Amino acid sequence: MPEQESRPAAGSAAEAIASRRSIRGFLDRPVPRPMLEAILALAARAPSGSNIQPWKLHAVTGAPLARLKAALMAAHDAGAPSQREYEYYPTAWREPYLARRRQVGWQLYALAGVARGDREGGLRQQGRNFDFFGAPVGLVFTIDRDLEQGSWLDYGMFLQSIMIAARAEGLDTCPQAAIANYSDVLRRELGIPATETVVCGMALGWADPDEPANRLVSERAPLQDFVTFHAD
Ligand SMILES: Cc1cc2nc3c(=O)[nH]c(=O)nc-3n(C[C@H](O)[C@H](O)[C@H](O)COP(=O)(O)O)c2cc1C
Repeated sequence: MPEQESRPAAGSAAEAIASRRSIRGFLDRPVPRPMLEAILALAARAPSGSNIQPWKLHAVTGAPLARLKAALMAAHDAGAPSQREYEYYPTAWREPYLARRRQVGWQLYALAGVARGDREGGLRQQGRNFDFFGAPVGLVFTIDRDLEQGSWLDYGMFLQSIMIAARAEGLDTCPQAAIANYSDVLRRELGIPATETVVCGMALGWADPDEPANRLVSERAPLQDFVTFHAD
């Protein structure tokens, strides 16, 4: 059977950055190990203060990924409480962040066929995180607990570099804070020591062109909303 088309590879840095978006449905096609290693090695060129390179990750595929997905989905289905070890979102939502959050949420749910107020449907869509949206690669990121805020800044650069490097290969990603909700499951399945904090997960693979949620192109505020130019 001929391979199903995915998305065209990005040809330049600008194209890779512009074409990156969160993909929430992947083809059932493996990512060759050398390609995965090349992406991670390239992403590790990301800068970090004093070059301390604070990132660590578990790259999970095949049977171990199937086991991990099953364990995470079981925790989600059981309604297990979140065990995220740090606050990712504001504890008190306010504008303009609340409106932005709601907008992208509604746009995603509309594409996924979840009506406003449909709690069950929302939970089902949320639950797809724990299947890594069908991706053949699940990445789980950790950081040594004794590292400081600056290292989390470095970490973001590493994560973005993975997502951009993936685009250059025609691959896509979805960063996933949701994965860190079940850090106890991750610790058990992946042998993550207590000295490390789970940062987030990331789905990586070939975008499914038939997945409606993948049509979502999220909006951005215009420059004047977030840049203050000081010039002559
Ligand atoms: C660190 C991080 C964690 C995220 N966690 C999730 C997640 O758990 N599930 C999800 O579907 N999207 C997640 N996202 C994706 C965001 O919703 C997405 O980046 C945002 O809506 C902008 O859309 P775009 O990535 O398509 O440009 C996360 C993004 C980041 C940067």
